[in-house]
Amino acid sequence: MLSVRMAGLALMAAVSFGAARPASAQDASAGAKQFKIHCAVCHAAVAGRKGIGPSLFGVVGRPAGTLEGFHYTNANKTSGLTWDAATLDRYLKAPREVVPGTTMTFAGLKNDTQRADVIAYLATLK
Ligand code: HEC
Repeated sequence: MLSVRMAGLALMAAVSFGAARPASAQDASAGAKQFKIHCAVCHAAVAGRKGIGPSLFGVVGRPAGTLEGFHYTNANKTSGLTWDAATLDRYLKAPREVVPGTTMTFAGLKNDTQRADVIAYLATLK
């Protein structure tokens, strides 16, 4: 019974994932390169290192504005967002539309594949 349910869940996950984008489009190593180009100037990928922005170590699944010791804007802290893949996808496309008033002065990563790759990379930071 349990295994039938698990199989069902896996299938559902595969279907909903496939609908959003093909799994092959996500490439964490390509994402690491995008991260260096677009994000590393402000964000560290290791725990506890603060830059202009908070460390992104462990960011996937983290509620917005909750890293100890980083001074966030109220806009971020009160956004009510949790950085799951879907929310990161919206945010990284247009940060200031998703969190109006954020001090993340990054115009956004408009390329869908590059964004998916960066998110795949962020998911490895744990
Ligand atoms: C010019 C500097 C800068 C760049 C470039 C930048 N960020 Fe940020 N980022 C920030 C700052 C500052 C904050 C805090 C924003 C706030 O408190 O409103 C932030 C916040 C975030 C958050 C929310 C973290 C949390 O703990 O709530 C995520 C996720 C994030 N950035 C991801 C990225 C990614 C991925 C990239 C590259 C695609 C990127 N950022 C590029 C400065 C930057």
